[in-house]
Amino acid sequence: MSTFPQTQASPPERSGEESGPALRAVGLCKRYRSGDGWITIFEDLDLTVEPGEKIALVGESGAGKSTLLHLLGGLDRPSAGAIYYGQSDICKLSANELAEFRNRKLGFVWQIQSLLAEFTALENVMMPLLIRGRALSGKDRDEAAPVAPEKIALARLEEVGLANRATHRAGELSGGEQQRVVLARALVGNPSVLLADEPTGSLDHRTGENMMALLDELHRTRRLTSIHVTHNLNFARRADRVLALVNNPSSSDGGGKLVPAQFDSDRLKSDKVVAPLAAAAASDTKGAHHV
Ligand SMILES: Nc1ncnc2c1ncn2[C@@H]1O[C@H](COP(=O)(O)OP(=O)(O)O)[C@@H](O)[C@H]1O
Ligand SMILES: [Mg+2]
Repeated sequence: MSTFPQTQASPPERSGEESGPALRAVGLCKRYRSGDGWITIFEDLDLTVEPGEKIALVGESGAGKSTLLHLLGGLDRPSAGAIYYGQSDICKLSANELAEFRNRKLGFVWQIQSLLAEFTALENVMMPLLIRGRALSGKDRDEAAPVAPEKIALARLEEVGLANRATHRAGELSGGEQQRVVLARALVGNPSVLLADEPTGSLDHRTGENMMALLDELHRTRRLTSIHVTHNLNFARRADRVLALVNNPSSSDGGGKLVPAQFDSDRLKSDKVVAPLAAAAASDTKGAHHV
């Protein structure tokens, strides 16, 4: 249960979408140039996510979690491999096509630094719709046409309990409020997939708990497919699956791999999930290459 006031979430229609996995990464590899050579962050990585699934992605700092999320979100291109949303491999899209795909299908919850501090909360939330150049999508379009981007953005701010801050400049809001603006902005285009990189990372404990409850609620009411990078054990254990990005000893140059992470009840007392989970996962690598 969220502690924030909730308005009608207007769950989007998902019936017209293709059956099968929401997303499928196949043989994904990411290398960066390093001096004269290359470093491999991960290679031959497979991941299948079913519609409506909530995945928690854990791993030590520097393991490549953000890199993976950027690839899945079409913000960066893999060195090898494919990323299917439905039947289409987004790695084959042109830069413009990819930008349009992101704008229509994906919601990103990045750090609050991604907000424009001098703009109001409402203007920040409206931004993806203005970029899209069309104000409407999904159920919003069915209900009333045309609906101004402003009205849609305000509805999303209500959904995250921040309508009363709509005209405040983003830079004047608290950390928790800013993170909710980021979330409202992620939802404004009615995405089917939500990608979040440490959404509670910069928040204090209580505000972080509230944000997690809100993310859980929105995942459910909006029928989202969600992947969350998190260091927060409480959040990770509420996911449908927890995957750890760990070092792969069999990799020729140290690239990581994804393995299902197991919870050890003793470790539930710890606030930090990453190191123990990654270690537990590394010791149980059976069938780990396809998750
Ligand atoms: N643009 C880049 N060029 C070179 N190395 C990079 C670049 N981006 C990330 N890396 C390296 O890739 C590794 C994984 O980074 P990152 O995905 O941010 O890890 P995490 O999110 O798990 O902490 C790190 O060693 C980082 O230094
Ligand atoms: Mg990161």
